[in-house]
Amino acid sequence: DTTLVDDLKARLRDVPDFPKPGIVFKDITPVLADPRLFGRVVNAMSAPFRGQHISKVVGVEARGFLLGAPLALALGAGFVPARKPGKLPYRSVVERYSLEYGADGLEMHEDALAPGERVLVVDDVLATGGTAEAAARLVKRLGGELVGFSFLIHLGFLDGGRRLAPTPVTSLLTF
Ligand code: PRP
Ligand code: MG
Repeated sequence: DTTLVDDLKARLRDVPDFPKPGIVFKDITPVLADPRLFGRVVNAMSAPFRGQHISKVVGVEARGFLLGAPLALALGAGFVPARKPGKLPYRSVVERYSLEYGADGLEMHEDALAPGERVLVVDDVLATGGTAEAAARLVKRLGGELVGFSFLIHLGFLDGGRRLAPTPVTSLLTF
């Protein structure tokens, strides 16, 4: 889908100084609102992992839910939410991380993965990699086999890809 990159660039909205001065926010809501484009995004983000026997997709709260759940269905996998602290009802494990703008943590239910399950971690943006790294630590703590990461956008200048190596990282757009 060679035109997908151009169509995405045309529909992503840059919002300067959100949520803090100096940060240019990549707003994906115009992409999600277009059913054809949304479908092409889900198809392209899942394509590298077809045939790789993914049994669970982990989506990172909040924007990773929007892409992770349809990717899970596209791959015939289950969906597991990695949530911000204090949101999950059952016994959970937590990993803390620092962010481009703040610090936070992620939790998963302790029984969310069976040992050896093949897992794909999905999020909208790879920036510093702190969030994805925390999700990866959760997957490994629960005995999952981390097969890869799939992002819509990779902010390459922040060098997050290096933190996730050697696990395969794919993204549709790099800035
Ligand atoms: C954003 C984005 C990624 C993360 C990337 O989430 O959706 O999850 O930051 O940053 P990093 O690579 O530097 O860790 P954010 O925590 O802002 O919240 P949201 O998804 O709930 O909107
Ligand atoms: Mg997020």
